[in-house]
Amino acid sequence: MLPVDVVPIQDFGAKAADHLASVLRRKAEAVIGFPTGNTPLPLYQELLSRQAKGQIALGQMRAVMLDDYLGARPDQEISFRNWLDRHLFVPAGLDPRRILPIPTQPQNIAADCRDYENRLNAWGGCDLLFLGLGLNGHVGFNEPGADPDSITHVTPLSQISRQVNAAYWKHGSLSADSVPEYGVTMGLGTILRAREIILLVRGAEKAGILARTLQAEITPAIPASLLRRHARARVLCDVAAAGELKPSPPQRAQEVES
Ligand code: GLP
Repeated sequence: MLPVDVVPIQDFGAKAADHLASVLRRKAEAVIGFPTGNTPLPLYQELLSRQAKGQIALGQMRAVMLDDYLGARPDQEISFRNWLDRHLFVPAGLDPRRILPIPTQPQNIAADCRDYENRLNAWGGCDLLFLGLGLNGHVGFNEPGADPDSITHVTPLSQISRQVNAAYWKHGSLSADSVPEYGVTMGLGTILRAREIILLVRGAEKAGILARTLQAEITPAIPASLLRRHARARVLCDVAAAGELKPSPPQRAQEVES
């Protein structure tokens, strides 16, 4: 079982930011992996607010992108680089040389993925990697059935991922068909080499998949369940997302005794 921190939703961003702050206190230029999506927004808002108050300095950290769409250009609103620029990198004042983008251009994509891996290794790998959880258990764009040893690669996107992602743009008026068919993602093998991982999960709609991630078998069919093999991975979730977790055995023992 991964350690699970369950917090009230209003504390979600602060708790995640506390983890990052403690890493940056030890190493100002730490390498941090950042996901997109709705889940990490409270973290990014909290980081920017702390930086504005002089409570944290984000300028020295090195930021690694986790995934994006194949073919997306940074100037397109749909690209994850564009999204992270808007929500974190630009307002944080991060020098673009401190950002490792995931490659997206199809021409030399296999070589570009190897280059991304080499650059990540040259930075010493991720000190801390934040992940979101897809409704189908994906992490990054490692969809069900992904190879647990994979490095960064191109992957077809599942229909559910395209549907969910369609809601991110144009106030939800995009159809799943407007979302690219392929993504590029940090591989599961690369993810599992991060020194520390925090899986961020919030909202009642994630309660079922979080319970399967943590309490069903460890299987590539639920890619996030593979995080249970990592020595320093943990989950940070809100109360709603924890709603379908079964009590852990020690708690049950206490109930029997009382
Ligand atoms: C997206 C991204 C993931 C993200 C996940 C959860 O498709 N590929 O990197 O973490 O799905 O998104 P959300 O937080 O909006 O639920």
